[in-house]
Amino acid sequence: MSAQLAATATPPVALEVRDIAVHFSGLVAISRMTFAVPEGSIVSLIGPNGAGKTTAFNVITGFLKPTAGKILYHGTDLTRLSPDRIAALGVVRTFQRTSIFGGCSVLSNVLTGMHQRGRTETWGALLRPRWVGDEDARLEAEAAEILDFVGLQNRADEMAGNLAYGEQRLLGIAIALAAAPKLLLLDEPAAGLNPSETEEFIGVVKRIRDRGVTVLLVEHDMKMVMGISDTVVVLNHGRIIAEGTPETIQHDPDVIRAYLGQGVKHAEA
Ligand SMILES: Nc1ncnc2c1ncn2[C@@H]1O[C@H](COP(=O)(O)OP(=O)(O)O)[C@@H](O)[C@H]1O
Ligand SMILES: [Mg+2]
Repeated sequence: MSAQLAATATPPVALEVRDIAVHFSGLVAISRMTFAVPEGSIVSLIGPNGAGKTTAFNVITGFLKPTAGKILYHGTDLTRLSPDRIAALGVVRTFQRTSIFGGCSVLSNVLTGMHQRGRTETWGALLRPRWVGDEDARLEAEAAEILDFVGLQNRADEMAGNLAYGEQRLLGIAIALAAAPKLLLLDEPAAGLNPSETEEFIGVVKRIRDRGVTVLLVEHDMKMVMGISDTVVVLNHGRIIAEGTPETIQHDPDVIRAYLGQGVKHAEA
């Protein structure tokens, strides 16, 4: 966020996670989790393995009902809505493990992502008058633009299963973008990527934010987290132990302790 913007206006809250608890038959996966994601920002949720990050995503996107608490999206209570309804409102996720259809073309994979979205939504300003009336051509053109956006334009006709691992991860993001997210939740997008692929992903996530999409990120790669987040929320054993700018988080003693002295900058939990 630019200093000027910060000084003049506080962006509205897109997502409010209010006092969420998740219990799995005796195991407390999340305990009294409260945080907010301002519109247009990148907020990262970090913490060691098993801290509850994916569980939080499952609750926000309706795949799991919380034991207690509420999820509000621009004031609308998502807590009792189905994953489809939540996606149609613009709250869209990627999965920790890639979920692509290997036997279909890359372009077809992106087209499947479009079925999740609300009827009038498109990715960015891609609805051009000349395509009205030819729905298939319009959707294909939009899918092609999404592939271009993530850098897979030359792979559109390839079987998705033939893509390299890094390309499959990019396709996962393209499928999510096809659902026309307003709030995009990315679960470890850089997992298993090499440093140059990670750089590419950092660029993609920034460009998504620059298109006006709010981002909630779960990621272990601290270079990515500290480089792009406006706010970092740190979970440990299902509890928020710190929340703040990347700079404050890197120096927070509780956070450093949670990462067992690995140094948050390089932590690989
Ligand atoms: N469906 C489930 N049933 C039982 N326990 C679960 C389930 N999902 C997650 N857990 C447990 O909840 C805790 C948090 O898991 P998770 O949210 O996947 O952690 P993270 O994504 O931070 O690594 C872990 O102890 C995990 O084993
Ligand atoms: Mg996880």
